[in-house]
Amino acid sequence: MLSGRRVLLIIGGGVAAYKALDLIRRLKERGAVVRCVMTDGAQQFVTPLSAAALSQEKVFTDLFSLTDEADIGHISLSREADLIVVAPATADLMAKAANGLANDLATNILLATDKPVLMAPAMNPRMWGHPATRRNAAALAGDGVLFVGPNSGTMAERGESGVGRMAEPLEIVAAVESALAGPGAAPAAQVGYQNVIYQGQGAAPPAPGFGRLQPQGPLTGLRVLVTSGPTHEPIDPVRYIANRSSGRQGHAIALAAAQAGAHVTLVSGPVNLPAPPGVHVVHVESAREMLAAVEVALPADAAVFTAAVADWRVAGAAEEKIKKQGGGGAPSLNLVENPDILATVSRMKAGRPQLVVGFAAETEKVLAHAQAKLARKGCDWIVANDVSPESGVMGGDRNTVHLVTAEGVEDWPTMGKDEVARRLVARIADALARGGVKTGGKRAGGGQSGAAS
Ligand code: C5P
Repeated sequence: MLSGRRVLLIIGGGVAAYKALDLIRRLKERGAVVRCVMTDGAQQFVTPLSAAALSQEKVFTDLFSLTDEADIGHISLSREADLIVVAPATADLMAKAANGLANDLATNILLATDKPVLMAPAMNPRMWGHPATRRNAAALAGDGVLFVGPNSGTMAERGESGVGRMAEPLEIVAAVESALAGPGAAPAAQVGYQNVIYQGQGAAPPAPGFGRLQPQGPLTGLRVLVTSGPTHEPIDPVRYIANRSSGRQGHAIALAAAQAGAHVTLVSGPVNLPAPPGVHVVHVESAREMLAAVEVALPADAAVFTAAVADWRVAGAAEEKIKKQGGGGAPSLNLVENPDILATVSRMKAGRPQLVVGFAAETEKVLAHAQAKLARKGCDWIVANDVSPESGVMGGDRNTVHLVTAEGVEDWPTMGKDEVARRLVARIADALARGGVKTGGKRAGGGQSGAAS
């Protein structure tokens, strides 16, 4: 909740400005007090009247307004907020802010403020990938500016796609909550270099430790890899095979690890969830893409495999949509086994994470299957849960899990998925602090095959 928190929203001049109106609404719904500043460019896309109606506050547009200066003044405007959000942050606004230019109200505020600044960039992918924007983003991140997005996807310009779409309003709200949670509570600063640098075109990440809200926690300085969500295995361009998975548990673990100070890479299959703030998210579709993304993300100190990976894929998926053959019967699908990502990583000869955690979603004989899986896959821990339809775990908020290790089974009480995530992360931090785990499965070279169960 953002009850009573003061957000100064600077709306830049881009097509995504219309989403800033929704952002005002979302922030207000959560109790925030939102004041808006609009650049000249922003007013080409949305009107101050709309922003004023939604925020129920006066909207500021002019640096040289006698009445506004007498009333509040741009210096006070920049200081009275708890957080300044720039959405959309255009290439032009970023360039000015990175270089300390101040020729309008928005840039004056950005230069005069002593409050955290969160930017949600939005621009054409070529502009985002341009070395000048890369330099400006890195400079801003180095100055402690926080970032959320941009995301990858199609642009307003016809036929254009790539990284440059503004983060969705709810993603920005999550980043605002994270930034306002205060130092140590959330790795909002990491949003800066995770999204700006990694989703960008290959610039090196700035050294850890920059930013005003760099989290400190039991996982500070450590790298954690998490997989989440289902995988989609194409049958043809419009059909696929998948497991049921909302991704909630995996995303909650990634967030909890980031909040504990870790550098987190979340490799996610298709889910309907916003990117957890402070987490570098790699979006994949299929099991093979997930394995490739996991390999790129390694090395890591700990890896948690929460994804519900499809065990099989269709051999030779059709390139064109398979047509119904009237009366000709259904086509038969030839399935082949997918790589087992958990088993592959557990049995790596070099670069295996110190701690590898798998999940076991079972509908019966939960513990027996989980214990067998621990040995078969070669991981260190298995988090076992009952996903039978009557348990309500699938897609729900709560989970009842058992932590299966070489030392035995711990039954955890039923709790929210967030709480399961925090508890698991605390255990991971504890195990890493002790220098690893007593391994439950066989380590690399243990002689077992990595085949999927
Ligand atoms: O074999 P099963 O799917 O029950 O194993 C579940 C565990 O293995 C989960 O941790 C899941 O993320 C992981 N897994 C995997 N790759 C697969 C199948 C499962 O990483 N192909």
